[in-house]
This record gives sequence, C-alpha cells and structure tokens, in this order.
Amino acid sequence: MAKVRVHVLRSHEAAGSRYQDYEVSYELPATILDLLRLIQQEQDPSLGFRSACGMGKCGSCAVAVNGEPVLSCQELVTQEEIWLEPLPNFPVIKDLIVDRDRYCNNLMPVLQQPPLFPLVPPRPADDPTWPECLECLVCDGVCPVMAQVPERFLGPALLAGTAGFQKSMLPTAWESAYFCLLCGECMTACPAGVKPNDEALDVRRQVTRKGRLPQSLQRLAQRITTAHNISGEENQARLLWSQQADLAPAASNPDTLYFVGCVSSLYPSMYGIPQGFATLMATCDQCFGLLGGEEWCCGYPLILNGMLEEAKELAIHNLQRMKQRGVKRLVMTCPSCYDTWHRRYPALTGEEIGIEVLHATQWLAELVDHGRIRFKELPWKVTYHDPCDLGRRNETFETPRQLLTSIPGVVLVEMKRNRDRALCCGGGGNLESFSPEVMTAIAQERIQEALDTGAEALITACPQCQRTLRAGARSLGVRLPVLDVVQALWRALPEQ
Ligand code: FES
Repeated sequence: MAKVRVHVLRSHEAAGSRYQDYEVSYELPATILDLLRLIQQEQDPSLGFRSACGMGKCGSCAVAVNGEPVLSCQELVTQEEIWLEPLPNFPVIKDLIVDRDRYCNNLMPVLQQPPLFPLVPPRPADDPTWPECLECLVCDGVCPVMAQVPERFLGPALLAGTAGFQKSMLPTAWESAYFCLLCGECMTACPAGVKPNDEALDVRRQVTRKGRLPQSLQRLAQRITTAHNISGEENQARLLWSQQADLAPAASNPDTLYFVGCVSSLYPSMYGIPQGFATLMATCDQCFGLLGGEEWCCGYPLILNGMLEEAKELAIHNLQRMKQRGVKRLVMTCPSCYDTWHRRYPALTGEEIGIEVLHATQWLAELVDHGRIRFKELPWKVTYHDPCDLGRRNETFETPRQLLTSIPGVVLVEMKRNRDRALCCGGGGNLESFSPEVMTAIAQERIQEALDTGAEALITACPQCQRTLRAGARSLGVRLPVLDVVQALWRALPEQ
C-alpha cells in the first residue's frame, strides 16, 4: 500500500473555501478519481465531486490537480502530496463540482438557431480517427480569456463544438473566434486531442471569407497589405534600429540573413532586441545580412485574421528576396516570424522553402556551446516567460533557459505556469487589435505570476510578449524590467 496526502479545496457557504487534508492509503496504480472515491467511502461521505464512466469517455470528472485541469479518472497518482481544486473559470456548486450551466445555456442557441451562414464542415465525413469532444470543459478551465470575460467569450469547448457539430455560424460564435488568443493551451490540455485553437482559426477563415472581419482587424490588414508592415509606416524605416546604433551588417552578401520582423523594426521601444542580437553576433564575428525596406511583414497577423491568400503574397515576396540573395540560413528574434517561416510558409506556398530557419536562441545556443561567446558574472534572479509560438508551438523550452543560466550568477526561478502550460502574455491571436483591455488584463495576470517568484526581471524571447508584458506591468504600476533573452545576454557581455 502507498500513502498520499491530499488537500482538497472544499466550499462551505458560510465559511468560504478552504483546503481539507486527508491521508489516503491506496494500492498502486491509482487515479485521482480512485483517491476521491476512497476518501468518500472511508473518511468523508460529504465530499462533493463528479464522475460517471471512470474511463475517460463521459467528461464529467474534470478537476485541477496541482493547478492543472485534467480528467481525474485518467490522471495517475505519482506524488506523495496533491492539491485538488475545482475546474477553474466556473462557479462552484460544492467542493469539486462546478456549475456547467453557462456552457449548456450557450450550447443550445448555437445548435438550434438558424445559421447566419452555413459552416463548411471541417471534419472529413465519417473519419473515425477524428477526436470527439468529451465536453469535459478542461479547455475552458485553462483558457486565459475565459478567466477574464466569460460573459463575452463562448470559450474553446463551444468554439470546437460549433465547428465540430457542423451546425451554425452565429454572430456570438464568430465574435468569440476573435477573442481567442490562439495560444494553444486548450490543445495541450485537451484529454481527447481536440484542437479548439485550430477550430477557432478555421472559423476566422470562414468569417473573413464572408466579409465579416471585425473593423479593428480590417485596419490591421489594410496596413499590412499596403505598407507591408503592421504599423503602416514607411517600410524603409525598418533599418532605423541599426542606423541609430551604428550596427549595420558586416557582410554584403552573406549566406545568413536576419529577418527582423515588424515589431522589433518599427517600435523604437523594441530596438534593443535587434541591437542586442547584432552586438552579440559581432562579438563572435558572425555575419548576417538584412533585407531592410525589402523585408515585408511575414504575414502572421493576416494568417491569424484568416486571410491566407493575402498572407501568401507576402510569403512569395519574402521567399523571392531570399532566393535572389542566395540565403541558406535565416534567423529571427521573433517567434511568430519563426513559426510562420518554419511551419506555415510550406503550407501556404505548397512547397518546402529550402532554407534553414532558426530562432535566435537556437543560433546563440550553438555559439555559447562552442565557447564563442563568454559572459561576465551577473548576480541576477530572473524568471522566464515562454512565448506560445516558441514554446507550445515549436517545443523550444529549454534552449532559452540554458542560455540564461549560462550567464554566471544568474538564478532562474520558474513561474507557477511554465513551459507547455505557460500562460500566454495576452498579446496572441491579434487580441491587441481586437480587445486591448482583455489583452492587458491577461498580461497583468502574467506579471503577477512573475512577481510571485521574487524575480528581479522577467525575461522572454519575443518582442510582442515583451511589449504586452511591459504594458501589463505599467498598468499595474509595477517596476519589473521585462527584457528579451538577447538583451539579457547583451547585458552580460564583458566590457570591450
Ligand atoms: S469519469 Fe467519465 S471521463 Fe472521467
């Protein structure tokens, strides 16, 4: 027999919620649901929780285990101490039982009302391998937008359901698709392998095709398609960061090209990212070229708008420029540019791009591993925020962390939610254009998680995350420096 200490967040109407502790002896292997049943049978019949099939089929038993929403009947007990809480983002009825009415009440109109226009079925007819939604609502439990505006957002379960049921495209459904951060946490958490994030993107494509793209996103698209960048400025301004710091590229026709991206090129507050990267490269005699005004937005925001044809035009332009220059290796400090080049350009253009694509942290890690860059002692307690496009989307979790801890004196502490369960900064999915107030609220939540670690700085590896998190810190009145990994490494370079 094994033993485990279980702390269950129980609700008591008069006294509020508090943890109740149980010591449970159980036979291996056991699931969380087995423990709950043992507690109920042997120690406390009043403990409230939901379950039915016990086989991961009915979706009734979702709870948060050590902060992570899961199906309790599928989660094995692997620790000697466990914290159990009700599924987040739902009102609690009793103990671990949550009120699912919001989902059910929203589901009915989605299924019953006449469609605004019919949804193209996203699923292949009669495909038995297509994952079925269990309606366990784990995805709603992890969703950062559900945590902020549950009354305005249908949530990932309904978004996936709307598409999955092939029913109707109601205004509420399509508006919700634009609230989605496309951060991918719902896909990571879903026990059935459903991809609400991808369904939301599919809904966006169809809404856009019907000419119903929200106005703020139309304006964003207009800037990109006419000026070829997100801010609508003169595209030649893309090199201001290098002219300011006298950091022009060292080689005229190098094999390697740095694709800077709109945010770092055109927002002066982000110039430190390309400047830091160029300085690091200069210290170890690495050359790279730049496209300058010939660099066009990678097309990522248009892809998120559901405007694939327009994004493809940008992709073709950028690819042609690379081919003309004979570029063999492409490096980016922006994970969204990286993801677009690396994963989406082949899908958009229908062919492999034939260029090695790296995120800057990957190239820097190579150089640090080979002893090409050395850092001075820098006593600094930092925490790291995983950008969704670098972490969850491209599974680069350890490289940025290893870079930070390669600086002597740096102590890296983790936030409560990290790696594939990291909270999005709030700036994903074009939410900054669609609903800046919800973006800021999510950024504030992430800043609070960083503050809880006691870190002196919050480091990330994405210019958009940095902008969003800085806005979150500013709005809270908090003095927490938010920097990119390359800026942290730049700071650790020995004085020349
Ligand atoms: S009890 Fe049915 S899914 Fe867990």
